Amino acid sequence: MTDTTHILLDAISIAREAGKIQLSHFRSASLGVEAKSNEFDIVTVADKACEAFVAARVHDLYPAHSILSEESGADEVQSDWQWVVDPVDGTTNFKSGLPFFTISIGIRYKGETVVGVVYAPRLDELFTAIKGEGAMLNGEPIKCSACTSISQAVVCTGFPYDKAENPDNNIAETVRMIPKVRGFRRLGSASLDICYTAAGILDAFWELNLHIWDVCAANLIAAEAGCEIHRLRQDRGESILVSPQALVKPMLEVLIEDRN
Ligand code: IPD
Ligand code: CA
Ligand code: CA
Repeated sequence: MTDTTHILLDAISIAREAGKIQLSHFRSASLGVEAKSNEFDIVTVADKACEAFVAARVHDLYPAHSILSEESGADEVQSDWQWVVDPVDGTTNFKSGLPFFTISIGIRYKGETVVGVVYAPRLDELFTAIKGEGAMLNGEPIKCSACTSISQAVVCTGFPYDKAENPDNNIAETVRMIPKVRGFRRLGSASLDICYTAAGILDAFWELNLHIWDVCAANLIAAEAGCEIHRLRQDRGESILVSPQALVKPMLEVLIEDRN
């Protein structure tokens, strides 16, 4: 078994266990919600419990690997291998009792993502990829949408937590996009949005100012499913358009209209 196959199997098992932890807190009355950067940006006991569980399992199985995760940041381990973890992606949904949330685990070797696992436990949807070996949903190969026209596309986005104080908040882009597309959605979990785009369930996704833990695993899954990952800009975190090649130009024509 190759290193990456072995790591994928371990990452799947960790994600499934973390999913059980999430479900044990889902719709509970005592989520211990705390605000982070502002009142829109929250963390719950489930985020912390999942993060601690994943870190402990990775340390046990791969003591030489480093971990970067949302709530704790980067550990001190120096390694070519790094696990990039969002313990709950879609915490606002989770807190509200909506089923669109995931555990996202991307594994990088020398800075390149080689394994990706995104698991939505309430939906029991497991997205996986190994670099160069394609992407799967629950063990079946997935492919991006064959849509070629944005007027036939269902597209998805999200909004940054600094939306109230920063006018560069994706609202102008969204207002331009909505009249041009068949359907517009805001599902609330960037990793799941990207994986749904990978599976051709959504036709395209874009968002500004994401973090590496939101996109590390999902971007590999999308790329392996045939999506283009287009970096929209350099000055606002992970700002990306994920779509089939045929939709890149029409999506960009709407998204970048005002900025040039
Ligand atoms: C958030 C979700 C959301 C996206 C935000 C992310 P979190 O992650 O992915 O869909 O719009 O930008 O920060 O905070 O729930 O891990
Ligand atoms: Ca996230
Ligand atoms: Ca999170």
